Amino acid sequence: MNLTLKIWRQSDANSKGKLVDYNISGVEGDMSFLEMLDVLNEDLINKGEEPVVFDHDCREGICGACSLQINGEPHGPDRLITTCQLHMRKFNDGDTIYIEPFRAKAFPVVKDLMVDRSSFERIQQAGGYISVNTSGNTQDANAIPIRKEDADEAMDAATCIGCGACVAACKNASAMLFTSAKVSQFALLPQGQVEATERVLAMVNQMDEEGFGNCTNTGACEIECPKGISLENIARMNREYLKASMKG
Ligand code: FES
Repeated sequence: MNLTLKIWRQSDANSKGKLVDYNISGVEGDMSFLEMLDVLNEDLINKGEEPVVFDHDCREGICGACSLQINGEPHGPDRLITTCQLHMRKFNDGDTIYIEPFRAKAFPVVKDLMVDRSSFERIQQAGGYISVNTSGNTQDANAIPIRKEDADEAMDAATCIGCGACVAACKNASAMLFTSAKVSQFALLPQGQVEATERVLAMVNQMDEEGFGNCTNTGACEIECPKGISLENIARMNREYLKASMKG
C-alpha cells in the first residue's frame, strides 16, 4: 500500500504546529497503525530527519497511552479498539490519512502527537481509591456479598484505561465519561460507600479545575470509547454528585 500521511508536527506546547505531508510505501495490511509509524520513523531517521513523536507502551490495548486522532476520530475508524490495535487493512492503497494529537485544553501537546494527560491522573488521585486497613489477617474473599449485576457494572466501569478518547471525541472536551467510570466502579460496590460523598465531590471538582468542558449529552464519547464505557456512568455520577451535595 502507498499512503500519504498528513501528520501534526509541533515542537512543544507553546509553539505553533502544522500538518506535514509524508509519503510512505510498502505498508502491509497486517501492520498495526503504530508499526506503520515505526516504518515512517525509521525512514526519517535514515534520512537524518527528526522522527515523529507519538505515545505508546503496551501495544495491546491495555495501557491507554496510544492517543491518536486519525481522520478526525480518536483511535481511528474501527470501533472498540485502541490505536495500537488498529490494522492498516482498514485503509486502502492511495489513501490520505490525517494524524493529529488528541485536542483539549487540559491535554497540552508535549511534542508532535504526544499530549500530557496528567490531568486524568490528578482526577484519579483526588478520590479514585478506597482506604483499607491492611494490617491483620486477609479477609475472606466472599465475606461481603455483592449482587451479580452490581459486580458486572462495576467491572465494566473499571475497564476504562484512561486513554482520553472520550475527551478528544467531545465537542466540549468534557471528561465526564472518564470521571464517571472512575466514580462508578466504587459507587457500585459496598467497599466504595465509606468515602462516596467526598470522592464524587473531590473528583468532579478536580475535573472542573483541570479545564475540561461541560457535558451536553452528545454521546460521542461512548461511541469512540475503545472499552465501550456506557453513558449510564455519567447519569450515575450525576446522581452521586447530587446526593453528596445535599449531604454537604
Ligand atoms: S499502547 Fe497501550 S493501549 Fe495502545
